[in-house]
Amino acid sequence: MFFASQGFHVVGIDSNHRAVFFGPEGDTSWVLERLRREIPGYRHSALDIRDRDGVLAFIAEVRPNLIVHTAAQPSHDRAAAIPFLDFEVNALGTLHMLEAARQSCPESPFIHMSTNKVYGDKPNTIALKEMATRWDYDDPAYENGIGEDFSIDQSKHSLFGASKVAGDIMVQEYGRYFNMPTCCLRGGCLTGPNHSGVELHGFLSYLVKCNVEQREYRVYGYKGKQVRDNIHAEDVARFMHEFWKAPRVAEVYNLGGGKDNACSILEAFEMATQVSGYPMKWRYVDENRIGDHICYYSDLRKMKAHYPAWGISKPLGAIFEEIAKSWMQRLIKHTAGGV
Ligand SMILES: NC(=O)c1ccc[n+]([C@@H]2O[C@H](COP(=O)([O-])OP(=O)(O)OC[C@H]3O[C@@H](n4cnc5c(N)ncnc54)[C@H](O)[C@@H]3O)[C@@H](O)[C@H]2O)c1
Repeated sequence: MFFASQGFHVVGIDSNHRAVFFGPEGDTSWVLERLRREIPGYRHSALDIRDRDGVLAFIAEVRPNLIVHTAAQPSHDRAAAIPFLDFEVNALGTLHMLEAARQSCPESPFIHMSTNKVYGDKPNTIALKEMATRWDYDDPAYENGIGEDFSIDQSKHSLFGASKVAGDIMVQEYGRYFNMPTCCLRGGCLTGPNHSGVELHGFLSYLVKCNVEQREYRVYGYKGKQVRDNIHAEDVARFMHEFWKAPRVAEVYNLGGGKDNACSILEAFEMATQVSGYPMKWRYVDENRIGDHICYYSDLRKMKAHYPAWGISKPLGAIFEEIAKSWMQRLIKHTAGGV
């Protein structure tokens, strides 16, 4: 929607594999319907990015002047059950997209959505302090969060983190080796009103969904004080647009909400209740997810130094409000549809 509002002719590829990974709750066809309804001239392809010939032919035909590659198997926890599919989509699919770009439009900026999981569980080795409702870094070196020079090596990533590392390194390599304007955005928690949050992926969206539907939310370990930084999809798109206007080669950025948009799960419960008026129903499971970060927020200083016109425009409160409103509308529609 953002790029359409900037005058771009938008072409989308999505095979709706989210429904394959997560079942009907992950189905994104409602988003496609909305794109078709609201973006004049929107063109969609249900191409699977694992289809090498299909991807090469499609990009050769479209020859886009910007590629934003966000298709992925996005779940940490899901990957172990589907290792081949996870790697084929995240690593091989990314290579297909890169090679298609190199063959047909090497001068076009190629933006890849990577993840902070490329840092594995190494952030958990940073000294932490326990506060009343959250963990925080107890090392002045990380006062502003985690920067792009943090090691991605020798830590536990989950199979998802490892397949995303493969894609991330390949995107950097196409930049350095072929001098293409590529960029990896190592996302924190990306979210917004249009996310189809499920338990295994989409933290804030799923948490607010549970609140609105009065479902039980399960907290896995770390006393519920684990911290995530949250960024609205519109701020993600705004950064991509800045990169498109002044592209660089083989760049890497930690794209999250940063320290100001960080919250713990316990704090998120409080904020969800504030916007919806409903209490949070939750249960504690005394076992953390494998490789899960205890505290992670992105250091945004490199992004702001390279692109001074960019900054976070949607604070946490506004993000909660938008997500709650969207789930309530979807719930009403669903209930009405079921009557
Ligand atoms: N949401 C987050 O918090 C977050 C955090 C860090 C990184 N990321 C990254 O951002 C990107 C987008 O994440 P998201 O949260 O929007 O996930 P998402 O699952 O909502 O979006 C990914 C889309 O890719 C599609 N897809 C999957 N496999 C495909 C295939 N083989 N061919 C074509 N389409 C396919 C899915 O159907 C889905 O619509 C991913 O690369 C993810 O790893 C997301």
